[in-house]
Amino acid sequence: MSVTIAIANPKGGVGKTLTTMMLADGLALSYGARVLVLDMDPQAGATKALLGIDAEQELRERRIGLGAMLQAFARGRDIRLASHRVAASDLVELQDREKGFIDIVPSNHELLGDMADFERSAHRKRRRDRLDVQLAKALRAELNKFDDEYDAVLVDCPAGPGPLALAGIRLAHHILAPTSLETNAYSTLTDFLKFILADDLDLAAQVKVHPLITQYQATNSLQREMLQHIKEGLAHLNAISRPVPYTAALQNAAAHPGMGNLRTARQKYGNALADVVALTKAVVERVSANS
Ligand SMILES: Nc1ncnc2c1ncn2[C@@H]1O[C@H](COP(=O)(O)OP(=O)(O)OP(=O)(O)O)[C@@H](O)[C@H]1O
Ligand SMILES: [Mg+2]
Repeated sequence: MSVTIAIANPKGGVGKTLTTMMLADGLALSYGARVLVLDMDPQAGATKALLGIDAEQELRERRIGLGAMLQAFARGRDIRLASHRVAASDLVELQDREKGFIDIVPSNHELLGDMADFERSAHRKRRRDRLDVQLAKALRAELNKFDDEYDAVLVDCPAGPGPLALAGIRLAHHILAPTSLETNAYSTLTDFLKFILADDLDLAAQVKVHPLITQYQATNSLQREMLQHIKEGLAHLNAISRPVPYTAALQNAAAHPGMGNLRTARQKYGNALADVVALTKAVVERVSANS
């Protein structure tokens, strides 16, 4: 059975996509895990990072990905997830599928329009459920068919409170909420946690939330203080205590996607590979302790 982890936080630019990439790489490389990444963000950062910019455009033209799945759902057609996932070729280490691999259901910027079509069709059919509930149900039904093929499904959620982000959260057994160390980010995070755990969402019983500190500079005394504050304040919420240090190598890995070239993880993360491995270990320990 696969575990589904949503990487979510309504605040933009806190490291959701970078965390998704690091975890996918770390799980496949260190644990030989079979990973499926579900890119639910129209910005398609995870798609570009794992497949390269050229692939994103090609897949959009071929109507492969989450948007095409939504269009099919909207038309009442049964579309198999199998035809909307692609193998990530970015990591040389992962060419042998016996030893762990990453597949991805890609996204592209047209996802916004596809979502609007999905909404119109739900409206026409007078469906009662909220949009995010309908979407999560449809996606869960598809994911269930492939439960044996993956160890982990990682859902990269978009920023903001929209139905795509909410559907991503609804799919999850665990939510990783990356956050930076600023007052603003801290209050967004606490509001988000209260929202997830509120009764009307009906999620509290099924999902575990784990705040994760990203963009942490150990040399910054203000950030050190804030980290301590967050750790104390969120102790009851399973905050992942190992912060991801802010490093140029990580910045680089996220900012310069593959362009279709094969790169090893070592080249991709430079001296930050150890952080990727350590972060993955921390997440695996937390998730297995709580499942
Ligand atoms: N630990 C880190 N070290 C270095 N750079 C980081 C780190 N975490 C995030 N970044 C950088 O911060 C920027 C935003 O990260 P990312 O795109 O992962 O955030 P996001 O939450 O997915 O954003 P969005 O809300 O737009 O989807 C990127 O340029 C990324 O490289
Ligand atoms: Mg992102």
